Amino acid sequence: MKPKILITHQLLSEALEYLKKYTDYEIAAFHRQLSKQEIIEKIKNKQGLLPLLVDPIDREVMDAAPSLKIIANCAVGYNNIDVDYARQKGILVTNTPGVLTETTADLTWALILAVARRIPQADRFVREKKFKGWEIDLFLGKEISGKQLGIIGMGRIGRAVALRAQAFKMKTFYFDPRRLPPSEESYYKASFLKLNELLATSDIITIHTPLTPQTQHLISQEEINLMKKEAILINAARGPIVDEEALADSLQKKRIWGAGLDVYEREPIIQEKLLNLDNVVLLPHIGSATYETRLKMATIAARNLVQALQGKRPDNLVW
Ligand code: DGY
Repeated sequence: MKPKILITHQLLSEALEYLKKYTDYEIAAFHRQLSKQEIIEKIKNKQGLLPLLVDPIDREVMDAAPSLKIIANCAVGYNNIDVDYARQKGILVTNTPGVLTETTADLTWALILAVARRIPQADRFVREKKFKGWEIDLFLGKEISGKQLGIIGMGRIGRAVALRAQAFKMKTFYFDPRRLPPSEESYYKASFLKLNELLATSDIITIHTPLTPQTQHLISQEEINLMKKEAILINAARGPIVDEEALADSLQKKRIWGAGLDVYEREPIIQEKLLNLDNVVLLPHIGSATYETRLKMATIAARNLVQALQGKRPDNLVW
């Protein structure tokens, strides 16, 4: 008999075909958010769980599934899972590292350019038939070339963002609890700065750190107050790293020049104030959203899950 597994949301069909060979799966929801209670109800008789980053997998969920062996998150971040509790219970937890690095770095740059050059506003202007011809001061943005980029979190994605910055001839600085060895600093042309110095001196600040208790509200009003008035803040990591209310207030008061957000504190809820501001570009958490990358993520999550259920060590164990 094939092991029973719960897939919280619809996956790409190739990954489902693979899972069909090895498991008896149930998909909990199609194109809607799931409540924790629904997950609890559906997981009871399951040995495997394949959640998305939006699904909170805490002790209550794990306690509801006495035969659960593996939680194969379809994301590189796993802040939605109580990993310590899973470890205590002997439930394996896996993620999908590596495959979304380039895609997320590309999206970060798309956001940087969209904010700096006011692309969405200009696009709306044209669609509204307001374009009456070239004007010297139409949609003046911010120059990127030669400016200072500050990267918070110099993991895989932070480093991929730094490499792209070289094409823009930027001066790149980074903050990370772990300093890179000198050879890597020179490869990425990035120098270490303490967080406060990085915030105070950078023209563009971009966040690429995981969400942990230490990074929750790493950027709050105090940190925003350190930034230059002309600074741009980008967050394509996790929403709760930034105090969204403080950011919305600061953008409204023009305390900083602009922001680009792909993630929010209480997704899919977004501060109402942000929705009405013209100096912020808002995306619906699409950092890794290319067909190729999402297929790799789903395939890796599926493979991790099957490996664990076959008694093998999954490739991407997080504990
Ligand atoms: C992840 O995998 O953590 C990303 O946020 C998905 O886009």
